[in-house]
Amino acid sequence: MTTPPVAADPRQQSLMMRACRREPVERTPVWLMRQAGRYLPEYRAIREQVGFLELCKTPRLSAEVMIATVERLGVDAAIIFSDLLPLLEPMGLDLEFTAGEGPVIHNPVREAADVQRVRELADVDRVGFVMDTVAATRAGLPDSIPVIGFAGAPFTLAGYCIEAGTSKAWTLTKQFMYRHEAAWHDLLARIARAVSRYLVAQLDAGAQLVQLFDSWVGCLGPDDYRRYVLPHSRAALAEAARRAPVIHFASGNPALLPLLAEAGGSVIGIDWRIDLERGWEAVGFERAVQGNLDPIVLFADRQTVRQRTREVLARAGGRPGHIFNLGHGVLPGTPVENVLELIAAVKEG
Ligand code: CP3
Repeated sequence: MTTPPVAADPRQQSLMMRACRREPVERTPVWLMRQAGRYLPEYRAIREQVGFLELCKTPRLSAEVMIATVERLGVDAAIIFSDLLPLLEPMGLDLEFTAGEGPVIHNPVREAADVQRVRELADVDRVGFVMDTVAATRAGLPDSIPVIGFAGAPFTLAGYCIEAGTSKAWTLTKQFMYRHEAAWHDLLARIARAVSRYLVAQLDAGAQLVQLFDSWVGCLGPDDYRRYVLPHSRAALAEAARRAPVIHFASGNPALLPLLAEAGGSVIGIDWRIDLERGWEAVGFERAVQGNLDPIVLFADRQTVRQRTREVLARAGGRPGHIFNLGHGVLPGTPVENVLELIAAVKEG
């Protein structure tokens, strides 16, 4: 596939794509991590009919969920409706989403030798439904709305493989990392190669950019991030970054921001644990940033939502290259009218 030059391609001229390139924009683009999910009654209605993994594996429905959400919210980008974890299935992990507990992996990686059964993805056919979702989402939206593909980062995916599900402190993951360093690097290298192929395949299927989620790496300090994680995140991102903008997001530890930038990404995601201006300074003003309202602010009254949204915009200081987002995903139970209030406040500037 030949790519038209940026200036001639209408899909490259949206607010979001221009902000990724740090070009001047009329107003700050806005979208929200987990913008389609259980806080939306329409989504809950669909989920009464179909299980979560089944929904992810039905591209027509996944695309419909995200297109309807983008239209309802009026956001400036569509992340595909999918999840971090289905990629682990063709790699040999037995994944289930249970009603109360979220994701469960029935054959976790616990001993160094278990890494040998984590298969590298030779091709992406077995997650072809994700590429179909990208194409169907792209086909249903105007050129002004970029489609974002995504994957979990090597640390975060390894965390799920080792813990057998989600965790608060990622203690087993860190124990594995400190006790079996060679096996750890082997595991993360396998995941990084799979993630790299998967991100490139999503770009080939029609995504304008991709985001790497390192949702839980904030449980590490900077020295450990550099030693155990950075080379693998860099490997996961490099090929996609040659072709398109990449958003590199982590949560939980602002001290990692300069290292995230070093690992790669033309846009760095910042959470609320640092103010946006200081976070941007840590990233370096030569990159774009995405963030960083605390998602729990959306549980306050509308005036507070509006006020705190304006404060984030003020911290961006009118520099080119700010994409408004939350510091992490929208939580279940968030009042929809407050999400709409936030988006209106960003659009008013
Ligand atoms: O806007 C969107 O919702 C887009 C699709 C999307 C989902 N998950 C759908 C989802 C995206 C981008 C994700 C990413 C994801 N998945 C992350 C990174 C973002 C973050 O929050 O850090 C992570 C860590 C996961 C793993 C995951 N998926 C967990 C731990 C859970 C269970 C807990 C929870 O939040 O529900 C999921 C399930 C999940 N992924 C749901 C949705 C809409 C809820 C499933 C349901 O309908 O019951």
